[in-house]
Amino acid sequence: MQDVPKLRSELLAEIETAADLGALDSARVAALGKKGRITELLKSLGTLAPEERKARGAALNTLRDEVAAALEARKSALAEAAIDSRLQDERIDVTLPSRPERTGRIHPISETIEECIQIFGEMGFTIAEGPDIEDDWHNFTALNIPPDHPARQEHDTFYLPGEREGGRMVLRTHTSPVQIRAMQARKPPLRIIVPGRTFRCDDDATHSPMFHQVEGLVVDRTTHMGHLKGCLIEFCRTFFGIDDLPVRFRPSYFPFTEPSAEVDIGCSREGGGLKIGHGKDWLEILGCGMVNPKVLENCGIDPAVFQGFAFGLGVERISMLKYGIPDLRTFYESDLRWLRYYGFPALHVPSLVGGLEP
Ligand code: PHE
Repeated sequence: MQDVPKLRSELLAEIETAADLGALDSARVAALGKKGRITELLKSLGTLAPEERKARGAALNTLRDEVAAALEARKSALAEAAIDSRLQDERIDVTLPSRPERTGRIHPISETIEECIQIFGEMGFTIAEGPDIEDDWHNFTALNIPPDHPARQEHDTFYLPGEREGGRMVLRTHTSPVQIRAMQARKPPLRIIVPGRTFRCDDDATHSPMFHQVEGLVVDRTTHMGHLKGCLIEFCRTFFGIDDLPVRFRPSYFPFTEPSAEVDIGCSREGGGLKIGHGKDWLEILGCGMVNPKVLENCGIDPAVFQGFAFGLGVERISMLKYGIPDLRTFYESDLRWLRYYGFPALHVPSLVGGLEP
């Protein structure tokens, strides 16, 4: 009859020295499988006298549990070793110099947003964010666009099915709802910009259902129209890199600003092409105005004490103008040839001191 302590040390040694998961499984089958050594011994218990059967049965059961535990322990040790060796093999030396000739390119939208952040960052703006899925109140009502206001139609809104907390949900049609969120979350003085995605049900050569805006909001005790003009003229000239770029403020209307204006920059269309700078023509690039006192009130800010200005610029628009990109839709086609041509080096970081463009 097989000696249990001897069998025990043989099986445990085999498990302990199994070099990989395959060898370990063979050891398992050899011990506990249908024809395994322990299984066979358990089967033969029936042939023993009752007294002997009891003692040997208990010993074999203990052995079986011990072997099962040893198998489990070895299995996790091997799995851990496998991960360690993979980590070792796939180790990346982050101190190696990068290889610019093999890297991808930065998309012009990312580049343009980064350039805006640099320019406004230098003026003391910080970045704020809000959700792409907005409720009706933040996207419209709090911005002084009541339910039956014609401006709602102009926004070509994507409404989402269902309601949340009694209101319809929308894909935000502009970044302006983040003005509301910022004013509710913080006390003035405020100076924020909001780069982000916006959505309108519109699709042709100059409109995309998803596009980007950079919103700006300043609220303080003495903020006035002169600040708005100075800030935006400075932005346009720095962004386009033209010190004397003509910038024009044309009266306009937005429910959330009063007075409101649209900003045009000078350009020339002579000879078929489009050239930014001095010329006979004007091109609209953003909307702006003094924050409507009703909007301040909706956010719990006293309009007798605080005033503000806000603006919203179209990222695709200024990117196309600056980088001579003729068709809006190409931004989203993920055409590698386009990206190699219009994209920016992966390691390029725009800055005012180092240069906005590479
Ligand atoms: N939200 C406006 C739009 O999308 C732009 C805007 C922002 C105008 C802030 C004035 C002030 O058209």
